[in-house]
Amino acid sequence: MSTLTVDVQQNGSVKNVDSSSVHELDEYDFSRLPDRPRNLNLERQRSFDERSLTELPLGFSPHPPSRADNFYRAFDVLDGFFSPGRRSGLSTPKSLFGYGPSNEPHPMVAEAWDNLRRSLVYFRGQPVGTIAALDNSEENLNYDQVFVRDFVPSALAFLMNGEPEIVKNFILKTLRLQSWEKRIDRFQLGEGVMPASFKVLHDPTRNTETLIADFGESAIGRVAPVDSGFWWIILLRAYTKSTGDTSLAERPECQKGMRLILSLCLSEGFDTFPTLLCADGCSMIDRRMGVYGYPIEIQALFFMALRCALLLLKQDGPGKEFIERIIKRLHALSYHMRSYFWLDLKQLNDIYRYKTEEYSHTAVNKFNVMPDSLPEWVFDFMPLHGGYFIGNVGPSNMDFRWFCLGNCIAILSSLATHEQAMAIMDLIESRWEELVGDMPLKVSYPAIESHEWRIITGCDPKNTRWSYHNGGSWPVLLWLLTAACIKTGRPQIARRAIELAETRLSKDGWPEYYDGKLGRYIGKQARKHQTWSIAGYLVAKMMLEDPSHLGMVAIEEDKQMKPVLKRSSSF
Ligand code: GLC
Repeated sequence: MSTLTVDVQQNGSVKNVDSSSVHELDEYDFSRLPDRPRNLNLERQRSFDERSLTELPLGFSPHPPSRADNFYRAFDVLDGFFSPGRRSGLSTPKSLFGYGPSNEPHPMVAEAWDNLRRSLVYFRGQPVGTIAALDNSEENLNYDQVFVRDFVPSALAFLMNGEPEIVKNFILKTLRLQSWEKRIDRFQLGEGVMPASFKVLHDPTRNTETLIADFGESAIGRVAPVDSGFWWIILLRAYTKSTGDTSLAERPECQKGMRLILSLCLSEGFDTFPTLLCADGCSMIDRRMGVYGYPIEIQALFFMALRCALLLLKQDGPGKEFIERIIKRLHALSYHMRSYFWLDLKQLNDIYRYKTEEYSHTAVNKFNVMPDSLPEWVFDFMPLHGGYFIGNVGPSNMDFRWFCLGNCIAILSSLATHEQAMAIMDLIESRWEELVGDMPLKVSYPAIESHEWRIITGCDPKNTRWSYHNGGSWPVLLWLLTAACIKTGRPQIARRAIELAETRLSKDGWPEYYDGKLGRYIGKQARKHQTWSIAGYLVAKMMLEDPSHLGMVAIEEDKQMKPVLKRSSSF
């Protein structure tokens, strides 16, 4: 654990914003992708974003368009979503979300806000984050910390409620932590690594407050959180998008923080793929779960963070170089993911019939995947219509498990093409019992058991079948599902899931996760009053009530970024 008594003086100077300093995504030439799309002339329900352009009144903000409005219109297709200053007020929920047919707010909403406010963590008088869980019943372990990934739904709830200050404080505080020297034993970690979590230590005798941060040196398995830096960039863009305050992202220290994160993941090495090579347990699934290699969660967050950085980086000297590298990587990454991680009925059938031991450029089975390694469950799981990005692809390795976070982020970031996004939602609808069951939403599907569990988890008693990271159900994922539903124009799916959660979440004390094939049982070691379960519910409710919030966490497909040739006619 790294400790340091931090000087909290921040450079409060606010720069004038020049819209020309921010990049327009449309300027980039994505047209040189190797494959051309087939004309999929399908009558699909248009995404919410598409509809928003033609049917929603643009600029429905009560304020006249500011420089910031124009600035956003310049690069973001979700124009109609941007409404700076639309909400104000600090202590009570302002939006009308949560109202049922009787126009009464759901009682859980007020309770959730109370809980969320009680989870606030202060440093020298300022709120800087939310504690992971307010569960005093058991030993705390590290649940008394502010986790970067856990804070994301809290941050979104506060932004949606017109309370951006805490988010700004968090962004700046974690940025200060990034600049600490990070060591595990005698090894120094990369400069750009963001902490997994931090906590505030109070010394009543000396009357000081000290921050303690964990960059992986205290974490189970000593793994650095690869996702933290990506979430930080994604949050910076959400803050900027929601408030219209571009000055935060434009601060030199924020620009530098972004560049340091990007340096870590854009550096050259021995890679033959544009995906990011990871250790097991470096993200939400922070224990050994066989997700080492190229896990979908990290690849989707990587893609999303790159797209957000492209919107936020200034085109000055160092920024410009990064912008060029990002564009190249986005190109390669989207091609790789859409081609090799995508699975639908047609693709599954192709793999089933793969030849092996092909050598040279003409190989069809490029990674030499053995058809015998196809698990039996996947043949039943795959619906006629639908598909998903599989868990991992590497040499002779395809992990066919379905992971919720990666697939939802793929939709929100437009890593998934429009057709793929629709197919992911089709699959969720067709496999409702398996993926949603009694409590939304499975972190992964299916569980690994018996011998496989022994080998893959190292006999982890916390990750037994259908528990925790191994096929457990996590209420926090509700916000991601809701956002994906709105983006694909299917809010009714989210509504169904939220209704399910409302039957139990509060009664059960807002658990961290549920166990069992259907997610019927409160998790074996689940914390109660888990903040991201609470915040995830609030964000889902607010987004459904006011879909314009989607703009904070979604990016539309770049029109010039041509999707790769579809392998399937199943959607
Ligand atoms: C668990 C989860 C991790 C989360 C942490 C705090 O370790 O696996 O994703 O950040 O708890 O809630």
